[in-house]
Amino acid sequence: MEPFACDTLPGRVVFGAGAARTALADEVARLGVSRILLIAAGGGESVARDLAAPLADRIAGTFTGVQPHVPVEVADAARKQAAEVAADAVLSVGGGSATGTAKAVALTTGLPVIAVPTTYAGSEVTPVWGLTEGERKTTGVDARVLPRLVIYDPELTASLPGPLSAASGLNAMAHCVDAFWAPGRNPVSALAAAEAIRVLAAALPAVSRDGTDLDARSDLLYGAYLAGTAFAVTGSGLHHKICHVLGGRYGLPHAQTHAIMLPYVLAFNAPGAPDAARQIGQALGSEDPAATLQALAAQLGLPLGLREIGLREEDLAEAAQLIEAAVPADNPVLAGAGALQSLLRHAWAGDPAATAGVTVAAGTVPAEPVPAGAAQGAREAAVTDEVLASFSGADAPRYLEIMQSLVRHLHAFARDVRLTESEWQQGIDFLTRAGHITDDRRQEFILLSDVLGLSMLTVAINAPASAGATESTVFGPFFVADAPEVPLGGDIAGAAKGRPCYVSGTVRGTAGEPLPGARIEVWESDEDGFYDVQYPDGRTGGRGWLRSAPDGAYRFWSVRPAPYPIPDDGPVGDLLTAAGRGPMRPAHLHFKVDVPGYRTLITHIFAAGDPYLDRDAVFGVKDSLITDFAEHPPGPAPDGRLVNGPWTSVTFDIVLAPLPPTPQDPGI
Ligand code: BEZ
Ligand code: FE
Repeated sequence: MEPFACDTLPGRVVFGAGAARTALADEVARLGVSRILLIAAGGGESVARDLAAPLADRIAGTFTGVQPHVPVEVADAARKQAAEVAADAVLSVGGGSATGTAKAVALTTGLPVIAVPTTYAGSEVTPVWGLTEGERKTTGVDARVLPRLVIYDPELTASLPGPLSAASGLNAMAHCVDAFWAPGRNPVSALAAAEAIRVLAAALPAVSRDGTDLDARSDLLYGAYLAGTAFAVTGSGLHHKICHVLGGRYGLPHAQTHAIMLPYVLAFNAPGAPDAARQIGQALGSEDPAATLQALAAQLGLPLGLREIGLREEDLAEAAQLIEAAVPADNPVLAGAGALQSLLRHAWAGDPAATAGVTVAAGTVPAEPVPAGAAQGAREAAVTDEVLASFSGADAPRYLEIMQSLVRHLHAFARDVRLTESEWQQGIDFLTRAGHITDDRRQEFILLSDVLGLSMLTVAINAPASAGATESTVFGPFFVADAPEVPLGGDIAGAAKGRPCYVSGTVRGTAGEPLPGARIEVWESDEDGFYDVQYPDGRTGGRGWLRSAPDGAYRFWSVRPAPYPIPDDGPVGDLLTAAGRGPMRPAHLHFKVDVPGYRTLITHIFAAGDPYLDRDAVFGVKDSLITDFAEHPPGPAPDGRLVNGPWTSVTFDIVLAPLPPTPQDPGI
């Protein structure tokens, strides 16, 4: 367990349908207060009076001037009334603004607060207060404002209209998500937050379907309570900092702003906080929690883009700068104004949340500071836009798709690492060297693709595992198209030296049908780890092709393969050295198998027990391709050949997947 610190907050909570009616009087009596200032919010005023009726002799006065965001004038008026009636406690009945007004009184008077929330705000379990003066909102934390008693009664939330319930519930969800990376995050609050996410995600759609479903209302209120307890000890993370600016400066509605922003902030921070993203995903039962949150907001009928709630596009740059100044220092990803502007732009347009996910993990800070500022971000974006547009005249749609995606990702990469000019020059030098060393016998670019894992990724994309078919792996740079043909049972060793190796097996389709006449190309290194194309004298060895027999069987002789280093005397070798990676590949034998009507198989078999199986320089090893190479003393082989030294045998049954009907190739 990692070390942590956590504030455990005091306060009594009474939860239950009808609790405000049945428990309030006794609970207040327990506190021993007798001159209560009742603070009742607009619509909830009559409810408040009804609830307070059994306490009539303890109510010293009622304040009804509650307004959203607790303007200082309202706070002053409530404080004045508290003094006039010599209050010894404040009882708020209503949403976040009523609780906030009671807290404002407590902040200067120290009077105990009793809160009876009628929405899903969660602020009743936090020591956070907030006041607004003109456009400026000030918040703070003070133990005196934390309510001494909270009565949660789901019946009081039953009249909250559906859209408001949804927005308010998602607001609670935002508390939970932000709790995973806010400055005071800790395992205890994470536990509460995760449970709250789980409860809220189930209750929100249920309440939205049927606002009279008291069980769902009860769950929603419970989730909001848990969310509040988590948020109370973690404080504001990036999400709340963003919403604070958007609400305070541009007057955007609080709950809708939260609902819109949350999926984007999650996608933005997730790359730097994978553990948090995993826990949030688990609670939501989703592998893509940002998309799930966005889908939830859509299901609840909430707006999906900031433009829908009145933010102007021309405000994005300024907003990003204001937010940058407020980003918590330990936010898991770097959040400079440029990155924030891009995040806001996606949220403004209502793009899929995942678009906000290209970020720089904190701790990988580039050598030079990230140039901040909206103007810089706009300048960089203009370059990308211009280049993207330059391809728009392309005729072939696939060419357009590939080139524009390549440009987008290359530019994002340069922005991501803040590529310096000298670093880019080094990149150019590297590619130049790769070009110079490449000829018809040496292919440095394939090697580069291999060590970057791009070859194996392309294999994974294009050779999806078909049930029962042999798996594919990298092609490598050593295939030669005009290798010698050998008869069934012939020997491909040629000039390649090594222990004789008898290879046999069958070629079949996935339905078990034998495939006669399959063209089987094989190539391998000699016992010293060299392919013939690396011999200085042009001799051929360790390669050849043959056809399978009418029953699909094949057999040939070769040499036992050995582990070898990929060519590492060029720029790719330098790349490996700089990364502390080795150049070795485990011993293997290459196959390329063609049968009309079947997917061409490009693969190898690897020798079981090879020491490099778990660190192949080109990531080509797959468990299903690891094969036993059996060792034998001198003597007769299965095909009758008498071998006068030690020899090896291996069996490899090849299974090909039938080709699906070919769609039109869109062409490049
Ligand atoms: C090979 O197995 O031949 C190979 C594959 C990738 C890079 C270098 C060599
Ligand atoms: Fe190889």
